[in-house]
Amino acid sequence: MTALKLTSLVGLIGAFLPVYAAPVDSLRQARLPLPSRIITQTAANGTYIENIAVRSNGDLLVTLLQPSASVYTVKGPYSQSPSMSLVHTFEGANGLTGISETSPDTFIVAAALYPGLAAPYQNTSTLWELKLGSKGKEATARRIVHIPEASLLNAVVTVPGYKAAVLVGDSVRGVVFRVDVTTGRYDVVLDIPELKPIPGGPIDLGFNGAKIRAGYLYWSNTDRASIYRFPIDMLGYPVQGAKVEEVAAIENASGVDDFAFDCQGNIWAATDFDNMLITIQTDGRETVVLGSPTELTVAGDTSAAFGRTPLDRHILYVTTSGAAAVPVNGTIMEPGKIVAVDTRGGR
Ligand SMILES: *[C@@H]1O[C@H](CO)[C@@H](O)[C@H](O)[C@H]1NC(C)=O
Ligand SMILES: *[C@@H]1O[C@H](CO)[C@@H](O)[C@H](O)[C@H]1NC(C)=O
Ligand SMILES: *[C@@H]1O[C@H](CO)[C@@H](O)[C@H](O)[C@H]1NC(C)=O
Repeated sequence: MTALKLTSLVGLIGAFLPVYAAPVDSLRQARLPLPSRIITQTAANGTYIENIAVRSNGDLLVTLLQPSASVYTVKGPYSQSPSMSLVHTFEGANGLTGISETSPDTFIVAAALYPGLAAPYQNTSTLWELKLGSKGKEATARRIVHIPEASLLNAVVTVPGYKAAVLVGDSVRGVVFRVDVTTGRYDVVLDIPELKPIPGGPIDLGFNGAKIRAGYLYWSNTDRASIYRFPIDMLGYPVQGAKVEEVAAIENASGVDDFAFDCQGNIWAATDFDNMLITIQTDGRETVVLGSPTELTVAGDTSAAFGRTPLDRHILYVTTSGAAAVPVNGTIMEPGKIVAVDTRGGR
């Protein structure tokens, strides 16, 4: 049963012009804003798309923070007519945050019961494993662990060298849990100020998005509008005695949500409340590549992920809340959507 009626905006496939195909060295040479198109939009205001993972077959999986604890898939995101359909709705929850692949077609998802757009009710945060069914079979969900101590589990990242473990950060408590997805055993493995919200800060969210890359856990801190990293070992434990490093202090936005790395190590970050997509290049240079605080182009952009097929490896899929949390110009929102951005202009 599909709760959402979805509008696919087709026919814009020709919008990506070959002029962007030539590789360029830096965003200074790119024509901005980067070309983009809506691949699918939900039907109702308040349909808050929160996070994204790309399946090994190239289909997208997105989580909803509102109005239900649902995972949707977008089949053929780069085809003429992408279609969005419900995969699973989790019990005992009404909102989802992070999603991360542990093996092909198996994903870990964070769920909780939220009183509107605020931290979840105490004692409702749960990590689930979602196995996608093949050949038309239904997806199956297995509860990994209920984490009573959690306040707002957000991004989930799979430890690359040891896929039976994930790291999951708490935006309110400002800690990182390491969870063994086989046994459900969990521990707080990192607890430092750079994970925490600023007391009385703008949004009251610290840790938000996260990625593991080349031996480091990277995360964004929303209140601090910064991205940090900390070295971790093969099993996902922070290296003892190591120090946190600031990777970027965002200048063009007041906060930062989830982000993705491109193959060259540049960061593509969704700024959420500022309705922009920004890049932070490996030399630290920051550029607004799409959207603006007063535009709906990527209004309330929550996360981003690159395509995984030869056809769409250069496409960044950006999810949005439709500015449900902080309306554009104070009053304007729209149903959450997924936008495909052609990043070839950016490299
Ligand atoms: C937390 O939730 C669990 C399971 O839902 C329940 O058994 C337990 O009593 C709850 N703890 C508190 C302190 O409410
Ligand atoms: C927000 O206000 C600005 C300035 O008045 C205007 O240019 C812009 O189009 C508005 N945004 C939307 C989505 O209507
Ligand atoms: C969403 O809200 C805006 C006002 O912010 C309104 O103009 C629009 O019609 C609404 N869209 C839907 C699908 O309800």
